[in-house]
Amino acid sequence: MNETIDLLMQHRSIRQFKDVQLTQEQIKTIIKSGQAASTSSYYQAYTIIGVTEPQLKQQLREVSGQEYVENNGHLFVFCADLNRMYQSQDKTTQVKMKDNIENTEFFMMATIDATLAAQNIAIASESLGLGICYLGSLRNNINRVNELLDLPQYVIPLFGMAVGVPDEQPDVKPRFNFDAIYHENSYQFENQHVVAFDDTTERYYEERSFNTKADSWSEQIGRKLSNPMRMDVTDFVKKKGLNKR
Ligand SMILES: Cc1cc2nc3c(=O)[nH]c(=O)nc-3n(C[C@H](O)[C@H](O)[C@H](O)COP(=O)(O)O)c2cc1C
Repeated sequence: MNETIDLLMQHRSIRQFKDVQLTQEQIKTIIKSGQAASTSSYYQAYTIIGVTEPQLKQQLREVSGQEYVENNGHLFVFCADLNRMYQSQDKTTQVKMKDNIENTEFFMMATIDATLAAQNIAIASESLGLGICYLGSLRNNINRVNELLDLPQYVIPLFGMAVGVPDEQPDVKPRFNFDAIYHENSYQFENQHVVAFDDTTERYYEERSFNTKADSWSEQIGRKLSNPMRMDVTDFVKKKGLNKR
């Protein structure tokens, strides 16, 4: 269709990188591309932390249990940040702001802002021939990540992103049919879309070029969601002053 759409359609997460570090120029270019994303009311309510210290990377790898948190071209941690806005004001205004900053709406805005910037960074990276993998696994111990990165009140780590020169070429993973995802004018759930996608994913897992297995989307979801995960996140977020009201 065009180069941009072709690039989007070629996305696959990369979990094995060559031992080549991103240049400062590459880092600047992709971060600036991230910053160019739309942002709620011009708030820019996020901060991106690049992790360059080997020991810190290793500690974050321990949190995640995933080796590509340590072995990559660069590691970014995306944080929802309402601290910058708070600190920009005098004490009187800060008191007035708390009702907003500490509610769910602002927590959502900061999370959305950070995610939009991250996805721009993902696309910018891929356009430079780099590969990326988002890392929600950093929330396996969100308190530890908070401590390791020394994050203040109103700043929480959301996810990481490993970026680097790909050392693997995994298959593109299938997605739901268009009709399952796009509805006009009202929401509809039709189980036939799930059945069809289970069929698609079963074939994908059977036929892909590495790590073949017998599995389907709904089986995977059933397994994953039946075990409570990261139950400490709720209290953590409140402790940081966000999503409290
Ligand atoms: C917010 C977010 C967090 C993710 N966290 C991880 C992670 O911790 N480890 C991992 O290997 N992949 C992670 N992924 C990648 C997804 O597993 C992947 O995008 C999904 O399976 C689809 O595969 P694809 O990206 O290759 O198309 C994450 C993706 C997103 C969007």
